Amino acid sequence: MKQKKLLYAGKAKTVYRTDTKGKLIVEFRDDITAFDGGKKDVLKNKGSYNAEVSAFFFGYLAENGVKTHFVKMLDPRHMVVHELSMIPLEVIVRNIAAGSIVRNYPFKEGSKLNPPVIVIDYKDDSRHDPMLNDDLIVALGLCTPAELKKIKKIALEVNRLLVKLLAAQGITLVDFKIEFGRKGKTICLGDEISMDSMRLWDKKTGESLDKDVYRFNKGDVMATYNTVAARIVHAKKRP
Ligand code: ATP
Ligand code: TYD
Repeated sequence: MKQKKLLYAGKAKTVYRTDTKGKLIVEFRDDITAFDGGKKDVLKNKGSYNAEVSAFFFGYLAENGVKTHFVKMLDPRHMVVHELSMIPLEVIVRNIAAGSIVRNYPFKEGSKLNPPVIVIDYKDDSRHDPMLNDDLIVALGLCTPAELKKIKKIALEVNRLLVKLLAAQGITLVDFKIEFGRKGKTICLGDEISMDSMRLWDKKTGESLDKDVYRFNKGDVMATYNTVAARIVHAKKRP
């Protein structure tokens, strides 16, 4: 497969057309950003760790009946995916209160959210990704009520599967963000699921194993990504 015209360069990934209709190549770059782009760095090999973990999760989710855009890896940082018509929503699932939900609402950091809480933000950097509700999503024409119901159902199923997989490796899935798109009429999981888009806490020590290490200068980001990627991907024991 040949990489063709650049389609989109985002904050951490670049998307290219290919010589195959309906297939794209996503390049996972080493750029890392936080706080709405306010903090930026390039961390060697970050892209390949995120690509590896994303590919592993997409494979695991597909085995468990979740439709994803993942096709295959070309090399450690280039992923072939089905082209989706992306829905501009950041769908966040939270099992434990942390991050913006603690800053914006009277939740105590670390408190359990049972059942999990879904928060949906509008993916629009110029508006700083404001939080939406169901009526706003439909009024803005971002998706239909039936699609929204499906998206929430898939998001909870992804959460259930990832909580189980990570728990077997001694990792608590605190929260994560996923994105969806349409392939024809089918809603598919797109983008990535990686240390950049999840909060992971070590079950024993409570240590952060994700982008919070970068956000809050908690330690060596690449050493953390390396260890957690190995812990997730090379895990022999799958639930
Ligand atoms: P953010 O960092 O806020 O998620 P971004 O646009 O800067 O935004 P990147 O991850 O750098 O994010 O860019 C990747 C882009 O590719 C995103 O806009 C994402 O929605 C889009 N994308 C992901 N998967 C697909 C797909 N299968 N088909 C088409 N576009 C996709
Ligand atoms: P959240 O607590 O809302 O954001 P922050 O603490 O960065 O202000 O984030 C919840 C989870 O979703 C966290 O694991 C990071 C992920 N996320 C993204 O990957 N991209 C985003 O644009 C947002 C809003 C969240």
